[in-house]
Amino acid sequence: MTGTAESSAIEAVAHALAAARHVAVLTGAGVSAESGVPTFRDAQTGLWARYDPMKLATPEAFLRDPQTAWDWYRWRRRLVTEVKPNAGHKAIAALADRVPRFTLVTQNVDGLHQRAGSADVIEFHGNLFEDKCASCDLREPAEPSDHGDAPPRCESSGEVMTPGVVLFGEEIPKRVLEQSQLAATDCDVFLVVGTSSWVYPAAGLADTARGFGATIVEINTEATPLSETADHVLRGPSGEIMPALLDALERNAGVTQ
Ligand code: OAD
Repeated sequence: MTGTAESSAIEAVAHALAAARHVAVLTGAGVSAESGVPTFRDAQTGLWARYDPMKLATPEAFLRDPQTAWDWYRWRRRLVTEVKPNAGHKAIAALADRVPRFTLVTQNVDGLHQRAGSADVIEFHGNLFEDKCASCDLREPAEPSDHGDAPPRCESSGEVMTPGVVLFGEEIPKRVLEQSQLAATDCDVFLVVGTSSWVYPAAGLADTARGFGATIVEINTEATPLSETADHVLRGPSGEIMPALLDALERNAGVTQ
């Protein structure tokens, strides 16, 4: 047994990974939970249980009360700067080197996958450490240690900027959506790690992958809408399950060499 997942289930997924030409991974807030970053929908500690997203995470919130919205996002920047990638992030980064082709799509805006060593991460919901201007599309890196008080203004348009994340009511950037959908149509195994699978269009990627014949694997501490239809469900924390999967894959490789 590893965590709560059966070792036979881990072995079955490792077999699928060993045979895969292209592995795609979709991650959500659960992957960063063991680093100390709060998830969104946990009933007690989730961000949306404590804060109203409509007052903080919409374009209207930034127009109505940019100071409050910026204070909240700067708090999140500081929080994320102070934590470290965990064993789940690291195992996902290592998995990329063990398979012929690998795509990582994350809904997380915290940059922890990159800090764990993942390259070419598709940031589905953007990046907390950028500032963007809705009126002229300018994007610029934000200082992680930005403690300034006033909301930043775009030097080109003069408008108040927002963080470089996808706010409620905003569309996923076209290129990001296309790259993610392409990976979903092309992969042989689709791992869905630490996401509640409630938020579309990200949650729809698993449906696309299934439609194109991929094996769908859910790694999550709790049941989600995906659990019923996934080919394999590995129940437990990603910081335990992902390293166990990597170990099983390496044992498999040792056997077949
Ligand atoms: P949620 O908070 O909705 O879901 C987190 C999921 O992670 C839940 O299903 C938990 O059971 C699971 N989980 C918690 N700890 C875990 C662990 N250690 N290992 C594995 N799983 C664990 O977060 P997301 O699904 O990422 O969007 O939310 C999707 C989007 O909704 C976010 O990107 C954000 C939010 O509104 C935007 O801000 C645009």
